[in-house]
Amino acid sequence: MVSDQNLKKIVVLGTGGTIAGTSSDASDNIGYTAAQVGVAQLLAEVPGLTGVLAGHTLLSEQVAQVDSKDMGFVVWQALAQRVRHHLSNADVAAVVVTHGTDTLEETAFFLQSVLPAALINAKPVVLTAAMRPASSLSPDGPQNLLDAVAVALATGAHGVVAVCSGTVHSALDVQKSHTYRLDAFSSGDAGPVAYVEEGQLRLLRNWPIAHAEYLHEAIEKILVTVDWPRVEIVMNYAGGSGAVVDAMLQTAPGTTALRGVVVAATGNGTLHVDLEAALRRAQAQGVRVVRASRCANGRVLPTAVAEFAHSAGLSPVKARIALMLDLMLR
Ligand code: SIN
Repeated sequence: MVSDQNLKKIVVLGTGGTIAGTSSDASDNIGYTAAQVGVAQLLAEVPGLTGVLAGHTLLSEQVAQVDSKDMGFVVWQALAQRVRHHLSNADVAAVVVTHGTDTLEETAFFLQSVLPAALINAKPVVLTAAMRPASSLSPDGPQNLLDAVAVALATGAHGVVAVCSGTVHSALDVQKSHTYRLDAFSSGDAGPVAYVEEGQLRLLRNWPIAHAEYLHEAIEKILVTVDWPRVEIVMNYAGGSGAVVDAMLQTAPGTTALRGVVVAATGNGTLHVDLEAALRRAQAQGVRVVRASRCANGRVLPTAVAEFAHSAGLSPVKARIALMLDLMLR
């Protein structure tokens, strides 16, 4: 399954996360500090990596060192710039990104949305992570890194994907679905792209394709934007109200005006009558409203409450990114 581009390089970009975390107690898999170990050291500690590389050169670069709960626009911009830089190099076959699990799905979706289609429809960007810190008795990071490199080198691989626990997920579908287990990600209804079995890929469906609606041509603007539009997420629940939306519409001095709201609606986009009224007030004031669902699987079918846009199958956090990008480019 290894491609014939044997002289090409694989670049690994480090951003932090549990995969780079340490704890003073090797048996402690939760009381650790994320983002401590540099990406070069993580790679040096992966047994078998030379064999999987099969002659390819491995380069690494530390783009950030953060717990991904603190991931934000500045790191995203730096990361997208470095990924684009390396993928544009004809000598580079693929980019691997080490990342925390908590917001990996958002970074994956952001990269799939903004990187030029010509690059990511030709080469893969493989995000990987770990649920246990590097100092664990039995860390999952080294195997995930090994699998990520195998995916990066697989013939025909392209698009932004996430590799964790032997499973390859598309950036569009991947969602963290478990708080603790090593197999912490799901692709929901869509199912995974592939499994990695002892370095070999078992492909289940097509690699992600970048489409025009993902705004690839706009990367220049996005990568230099300082003031990202403020888009918040609210949830519908029993006993809900419009109070949070109404409060967000009040712009206190020094705060950014609200530009958009993604509502994590119940079921197929249903909303408490009071929340719906508040969202209507927000929309009347020029705030963009998008309905996603708080259900882990399925999509909001466009027929319900047609006055609000639907998220086209995106989860609330991904719909927020899509709305921010859309607002930035109008
Ligand atoms: C993080 O997301 O950076 C910490 C948690 C993890 O990687 O599992």
